[in-house]
Amino acid sequence: MSLCITDVRLILGQELVEGGISIRDGQIEKLSKTAHLPKSDKTIDGKGLIALPGLIDAHVHLRDMELSYKEDFSSGTLAAAAGGFTTVLDMPNTKPPTNSDVRLVEKIAKAQTAVHVNVGFHASLAESGTDLRKMVKAGAIAFKLYMNEPDPHVWHSDPRKLFSSFKECGTLGTPIAVHAENGPAIARSQTKCREAGDNSVKDFLRAHAPRFELEAVQMITDLARRAHSKVHICHLSTQRSLREISAARKRGLGITCEVTPHHLFLDTKGLRREGGFALMVPPLRKHSDTKALWRAMLRSEIDIVASDHAPHTLGEKTSKDVWSIRPGLPGLETTLPLLLTKVHHGELTLARLVQLLAEKPADIFGLHGKGRLQVGMDGDLVLVDPKARFKIDSSKFYSKAHFSPFDGFRCVGQPVTTIVAGHVVYDRGEIDEKNHGKIIARVVRS
Ligand code: NCD
Ligand code: ZN
Ligand code: ZN
Repeated sequence: MSLCITDVRLILGQELVEGGISIRDGQIEKLSKTAHLPKSDKTIDGKGLIALPGLIDAHVHLRDMELSYKEDFSSGTLAAAAGGFTTVLDMPNTKPPTNSDVRLVEKIAKAQTAVHVNVGFHASLAESGTDLRKMVKAGAIAFKLYMNEPDPHVWHSDPRKLFSSFKECGTLGTPIAVHAENGPAIARSQTKCREAGDNSVKDFLRAHAPRFELEAVQMITDLARRAHSKVHICHLSTQRSLREISAARKRGLGITCEVTPHHLFLDTKGLRREGGFALMVPPLRKHSDTKALWRAMLRSEIDIVASDHAPHTLGEKTSKDVWSIRPGLPGLETTLPLLLTKVHHGELTLARLVQLLAEKPADIFGLHGKGRLQVGMDGDLVLVDPKARFKIDSSKFYSKAHFSPFDGFRCVGQPVTTIVAGHVVYDRGEIDEKNHGKIIARVVRS
């Protein structure tokens, strides 16, 4: 099976060059500046389009299992394909949670026959080294630590236990992705609000105070330094915790971090307008925070952009009581257009976009063959039209979650064709019903 894309512009490193690409047996066979490409079974005319490496979203909640009413492997990976993502990493806060090798194997078995793009799995961080090793063997790409867990007696609230778990992950070479918010402190302040009958969006913001993120970040940078583990901070939201991470990096700590499009584009003002649709954790912050995050992202103090695609039903997003609203929003189909719009306005370079959404996530999570347009790499690509103008409309999402605080945003730049291992899985609103996605796992030496 072979595919050629002709007359396209390619992003090669920092440069955009005119040329063509051929993919054979799932891998990039040739990148050419000339019209000479090998003969192929299928040809795509790439006139007016730019070819990027298939994008990687390292933070996605595909749900499925008992939460498939919110999203399932098929709908979530179709949303990914329509959004230009050819690889996504699924989070373990499912029902049941992905907290053992058995659970991971179950999830992989179900996903295997249902995914339209490549999927890798985060598994829950565990206390026991044996459990960690078993999950790595079963295919875990990374471990996830939810510090926002409200229970103050959970095993990872014991610093000694957390240290030994971090050390084991360091030895295994498996990254730990962290939701950095002080859960017990948030739970206490939430209880106070509820008892006082405070249940507005403002109260939600108060309960998720910026200092709770900072406290968690401080604890994690210290632990990562002592345990020599690879730590990745998810959805960073404040300038203050960003400074903490940048300072730790300056002292030589190899900690990485991510930002979501909602924390880059929206602030608490948006929250007033959008209400529950713009409610997520960590929550939206002040305008000065979004500005600081944007600057840090441009100068590589932030490593990746991830959508934190977190679908819920409309009912779960529109409760009158703020404490009953499920936090989270779909992001797979808005992330790339939002960032391409910034490229159009000259506020972001295409090369940096590719680093944030492809190269760096591949490096951090050890995704071999992914993230770069190079001969021998996997034939995962997205063709974008940098001039396409459209308005975000969540009613058209492939995701089951039909809401977005970005509804009505005018974008310039759109994914047009998404290719996984040389197969066109999405093309101008058309989808291939076949499942071309693969389950990806880290290669582990036993
Ligand atoms: C996520 C979800 O719904 O699973 N929600 C969110 O607001 N971000 C959980 C998470 O990523 O912490
Ligand atoms: Zn989180
Ligand atoms: Zn998340």
